[in-house]
Amino acid sequence: MPRGGPDASCLDRLLQTDRQEYLDRDSDGDAAHEARKRSVIRALDWTGEVFGHHEKFAKIALDEVAEVPDPQILELGAGHGALSAKLLDWHPTARLTVTDVEPASVAAIAAGDLGSHPRATVRVMDATALDAADGQFDLAVFALSFHHLPPPAAARVFAEGTRAAKKLLIIDLPRPPAPLHILRIATMLPLSLWVPFVHDGVISSLRAYSPSALRALAAHADPAIELELRGGLVSPQVVVASRTR
Ligand SMILES: C[S@@+](CC[C@H](N)C(=O)[O-])C[C@H]1O[C@@H](n2cnc3c(N)ncnc32)[C@H](O)[C@@H]1O
Repeated sequence: MPRGGPDASCLDRLLQTDRQEYLDRDSDGDAAHEARKRSVIRALDWTGEVFGHHEKFAKIALDEVAEVPDPQILELGAGHGALSAKLLDWHPTARLTVTDVEPASVAAIAAGDLGSHPRATVRVMDATALDAADGQFDLAVFALSFHHLPPPAAARVFAEGTRAAKKLLIIDLPRPPAPLHILRIATMLPLSLWVPFVHDGVISSLRAYSPSALRALAAHADPAIELELRGGLVSPQVVVASRTR
């Protein structure tokens, strides 16, 4: 299925790539490549702080558990852990399981304040195969990460996230209409040759899923998954998925 969804236009179908981001490639002991990946994660943390994404995403997540007294929250693809840190800071009793599929990122998070926080557990976890019991969490949140996964794996995240958590919250890049998308890519391309963060940004944009793609992936995972979609175009897209039975 195209990233623009089953009904994507011909132009939209051209605006996608199977090329991997630096973050997705194994370092295999290559120190220079590992340094590039770390620089992307640091840049994500920095831009999240400066542009207020961490706070915005934390507010969206906390709204989803507003009715739960002591919520159990699972963060998937945490990268740097700043969203989990904000959630722990803002909610006095929430418990966070902070995870990423990348062992180096998990080690870096565990070495920081989250590693010794009394309400946080930091561990490696793959969002497509959650090591968690059914309904163990009130909320699973996956921020700026869903586009990393090709369609079969992305569908598994819907299945797994709504199995292990009562609600799965996906916050990800919007997929603009094709003409705007071309403009966005054109402005980023020159810098992408030099700056790893922009390189990954171009690929992320080409891999972002449209609302119709998200609906198709969820339906493929399980027709009993219900979606609420909001945002998009200039703000991140927000998806709240849960099972009706
Ligand atoms: C662009 S970063 C986002 C980091 C952070 N969530 C943020 O909002 O800045 C994407 C993250 O998704 C993680 N990731 C990719 N595939 C994953 C998977 N199958 N399961 C869990 N995390 C995954 C990567 O290791 C990376 O840390």
